Amino acid sequence: MKHLLSATDLSRDTAISLLDIAEEMAEVSQREVKKLPTLRGKTVLNLFFEDSTRTRVSFEAAAKRLSADVLNVAAKGSSVSKGESLKDTVQTLAAIGVDAVVLRHPASGAAHTLAHSGWIDAAVLNGGDGTHEHPTQALQDAFTLRHRIHGSASRGAALDGVRVVIVGDVLHSRVARSNVWLLRTLGAEVTLVAPPTLMPHDIDSWPVTRCFDLDQALATEPDAVMMLRVQRERMNDSYFPNEREYSRLWGLTVERFARLGERTTIMHPGPMNRGFEIASLAADSTQSVILDQVQNGVAVRMAALYVLLTGSGASAIGALKREELR
Ligand code: CP
Repeated sequence: MKHLLSATDLSRDTAISLLDIAEEMAEVSQREVKKLPTLRGKTVLNLFFEDSTRTRVSFEAAAKRLSADVLNVAAKGSSVSKGESLKDTVQTLAAIGVDAVVLRHPASGAAHTLAHSGWIDAAVLNGGDGTHEHPTQALQDAFTLRHRIHGSASRGAALDGVRVVIVGDVLHSRVARSNVWLLRTLGAEVTLVAPPTLMPHDIDSWPVTRCFDLDQALATEPDAVMMLRVQRERMNDSYFPNEREYSRLWGLTVERFARLGERTTIMHPGPMNRGFEIASLAADSTQSVILDQVQNGVAVRMAALYVLLTGSGASAIGALKREELR
């Protein structure tokens, strides 16, 4: 595997292997010295053309825990704001010497373009491209869910038969798209719930059940409910009457949360609009794994950087990694 651009790049075996490597990495993160020498001498460039807290910082932590050097470049404050192109920006930074580029960009397909343009010879990791994909978010969500379901027996496990309801602004959500593909690859059953205006137009070709009634979807007592952020910054139109109406119909309100079974796991990729798509009571409950998702983001990004930068096949790497960590 040279790049990680899309959740569709991951076969079931590759995904499970990456999650297993992430298990090893999570153990490293529990140690007093949270560091491995594995990527010493490598340089990871975090190139962010959109704002980020979780993805940028967790990629930085992941690279540093593997002893790589990290360069952080945000569009704001760089020559991108003077009009420098993506090509000139990455070629300039590559001239300094980089082995991997983590790219977040508002244009869907930007990571794919960078990986296949021939502009640079570095591994490309998609840190979120427009409304298209966010594969490492899907990996951290699958890792978190796998732990919630299988606990200490997570290694080697998939998510067969696990029922996940994804709710909200699906139309603009790269998180939803990547999650759908990875969850399906791992055997989960996915239901998407959204207002008709925020359901993708090509939804019939997605491997999901769609539903327009949140209460009906929650009454099935799913294993997990993943609430999505309403992405106002991507909306150039009115997709719902007002916030109150959205919360009433599509929000995980206090009342809905109270009706939900205790075994249903609450997820959200963050950042959250508290009191809008999710009530604080639900977000801060013991059923919520929202902070676990963030914590596990470091482990899965360590795994992804490890696999891409050591050039090892994901299928062979689990055993190799376990040996190295002993
Ligand atoms: N979930 C996520 O991508 O968060 P950030 O935008 O903070 O990276």
